[in-house]
Amino acid sequence: MARLRLGVLISGHGSNLQALIDATRKAHYGAEIGLVISNQSDAYGLSRARDAGLSVALISHRDYRDRAEFDEALGAALDEAGVELVCLAGFMRMLGDAFVARWQDRLINIHPSLLPAFKGLDVHRRVIEAGARFSGCTVHYVRPEVDSGPIIVQAAIPVLSADTPATLESRVHEVEHRCYPLAVDLIAKGRVRLEGERVRLIDVRDARGRLINPAPDEPMLS
Ligand code: GRF
Repeated sequence: MARLRLGVLISGHGSNLQALIDATRKAHYGAEIGLVISNQSDAYGLSRARDAGLSVALISHRDYRDRAEFDEALGAALDEAGVELVCLAGFMRMLGDAFVARWQDRLINIHPSLLPAFKGLDVHRRVIEAGARFSGCTVHYVRPEVDSGPIIVQAAIPVLSADTPATLESRVHEVEHRCYPLAVDLIAKGRVRLEGERVRLIDVRDARGRLINPAPDEPMLS
């Protein structure tokens, strides 16, 4: 079966890119990476991509007059590489409505919260300050409004009493690295169907476990 060709857009560390790279090395994985684009020359993710022998493009927003021109350059590179699905993986530039419309239903993002809660930046600090008992991550189709769009895969993790933004971020990252490759594989294998603005998953087992935090089977007070 032909593999779905991905374009991965990054700006920084690229650990989600790495998770996708690792997944594409598996025999029955449904996708391959055709191009990695970074808008930052010092993004560590660029080294990850080069080490994996992937095609890489550095497209800096600073080299373009406005967002429309920058978006056009991104689109041209993605087209030239034959990309079929664009994966935003820590890409820190807003994409214009025209770009989003052109890649409608072929453009996905990973966000480090349980959307629709905690859209935007500085998520982990805000989750802790809100006293939320759970956080997690969401892979979703991109729509013009930031961090919105049909949800494909989510994972929840408990927020621990001792969590700092850094420790919470690191545990959210662990589940991100499972969710992003899973979402891409489901799309590649035709198991993600959009029905209006909602995703229906085809032949996918529902998780039956319940998470309660604090766990009620432990003494409530010591
Ligand atoms: C991730 O937490 C992702 O959810 C958010 O940006 C972060 C990127 O991390 N959109 P990395 O560059 O993949 O390590």
